[in-house]
Amino acid sequence: MTFLIAALTLGGMQVTKRMTLPIIPEPVSIRYEDGHFTLGPKTTISAPSELASLAEMLKEDIGPAFGFDLPIVNHGDSDSIHLTLDKKLARLGVEGYTLRVHAHRIEISAPETAGVFYGIQTLRQLLPTESFRKDKTENVAWTVPCARIEDYPRFGWRGMHIDASRHFMPKEFILKYIDLIALHKMNVLHFHLTDDQGWRIEIKKYPKLTSVGGWRKESMAGHYGEHRFDGVPHGGFYTQEDIKEIVRYAHDRFVKVVPEIEMPGHAQAAIAAYPELGNTGKPLDVFTEWGVDENVFNVDDSTIHFLQDVLTEVVGLFPSEFIHVGGDECPKTQWKASPEAQARIKALGLKDENELQSWFIHQMDTFLASKGRRLVGWDEILEGGLAPGATVMSWQGEEGGVAAAKAGHDVVMTPAQYTYFDHYQTQDHKAEGLTIGGYLPLRRVYGYEPVPKELNAEEAKHVLGAQGQLWTEYIPNPKRLEFMGFPRTCALSEVLWTPKKERDYDQFLSRLSVHLERLTALDVNYCPLGLPK
Ligand code: ACM
Repeated sequence: MTFLIAALTLGGMQVTKRMTLPIIPEPVSIRYEDGHFTLGPKTTISAPSELASLAEMLKEDIGPAFGFDLPIVNHGDSDSIHLTLDKKLARLGVEGYTLRVHAHRIEISAPETAGVFYGIQTLRQLLPTESFRKDKTENVAWTVPCARIEDYPRFGWRGMHIDASRHFMPKEFILKYIDLIALHKMNVLHFHLTDDQGWRIEIKKYPKLTSVGGWRKESMAGHYGEHRFDGVPHGGFYTQEDIKEIVRYAHDRFVKVVPEIEMPGHAQAAIAAYPELGNTGKPLDVFTEWGVDENVFNVDDSTIHFLQDVLTEVVGLFPSEFIHVGGDECPKTQWKASPEAQARIKALGLKDENELQSWFIHQMDTFLASKGRRLVGWDEILEGGLAPGATVMSWQGEEGGVAAAKAGHDVVMTPAQYTYFDHYQTQDHKAEGLTIGGYLPLRRVYGYEPVPKELNAEEAKHVLGAQGQLWTEYIPNPKRLEFMGFPRTCALSEVLWTPKKERDYDQFLSRLSVHLERLTALDVNYCPLGLPK
């Protein structure tokens, strides 16, 4: 990648502008050509009716900084940005596109609408970085270098996870986060909605899940084990109307929202709301500590039905094929001590509590399959036997993913050592501020290879992709979440989109230095520490 520097004259002012701008994630193929297209007061966006909403989105994205009208027309000729669907490009897949920049017109063509959307994201990055601003920019050359780009993703699951339970994140921020994911051509938002410390989704049949389970009296301060608390109540939840808005907003940007409803562990907020869901019958508060909690769901029929009722509402709200049921970190102490749990083990002829957990997840797998959905869970769902339809998120390293893929199950790679963005990103903990621990610098994210080497070509087809995790025990607000998420999300987007052979860390860094100007324009509080000066 070369940056051509050109001196342009604009309104009598000398403006220095890079003519060739870096794109993240790096496209499959780019050929720059002589010349450039210039956006001006007469430029239009031309789109058939089925692409009108994408044309509108492009206009909204760049319009405020551009300042001219950019009218949307059916048949623009020259001086137009053309959006077109072209089934002849089917070889590029459902998310692929071509982008041709000629001196007098720009063409984004794709076999499906998703590809047009990704072509638009690339075009935005060929425009001056100021085009990301929300105010009118002066003395900026609105030029796009002539180029031929052909592009499509390496993986189908390009995800980011957000934990809205440990700290509630306002709806407006979730929408911004979706915009940021989509800009990086990522297409899954894994929405962690329930946990010990807070239940964040309105369930009409069980209102106490949010009226009680959505609020805790304080939060743990400092590191786990210090036993300090902040004394500040915390809570919030998304109404079903909020969820519908989030899902619709994401859908318009080709992001699937995969909801996570945790079970059988990470259940204390729900048990605080409905104590009959627990094993001890004792009233509990919503959990105020971080870490793994012993209060897990009991295995009574009524609890299974309660959770299936919850899933019925969840399925009604989220069109996602995948529904996440957690499955991680479920201590077995209470089941060991519970006569009901032991009787269930005996009645089902199970070996132990691990098989009981597997039975529990199996109930949800069958239920979700009956609704035409697929269950996904963290890799502990392998313990005691994997439910037949289950997809596995491999977080405790790569082993779970390898085992699941070898057994013919789909997997999403989420190993903590490469994809947990709640870990420190530098060695300077003082400057970075408190995090949960660990160390995951940008270079390590960039170097991650989602297909474990233990898999042969056939097994590797089960690796749907990977995703970054943002657990929020130590991420109390959106600005901190942006700090932890960026620029590591930029690196992961390239891992998931760009062909492996095209990845080059030094070259990524030089592109990133310009990309950060876009993040600044978008008011993203990225972490500047650890980046080359
Ligand atoms: C997890 O980090 N407990 C999935």
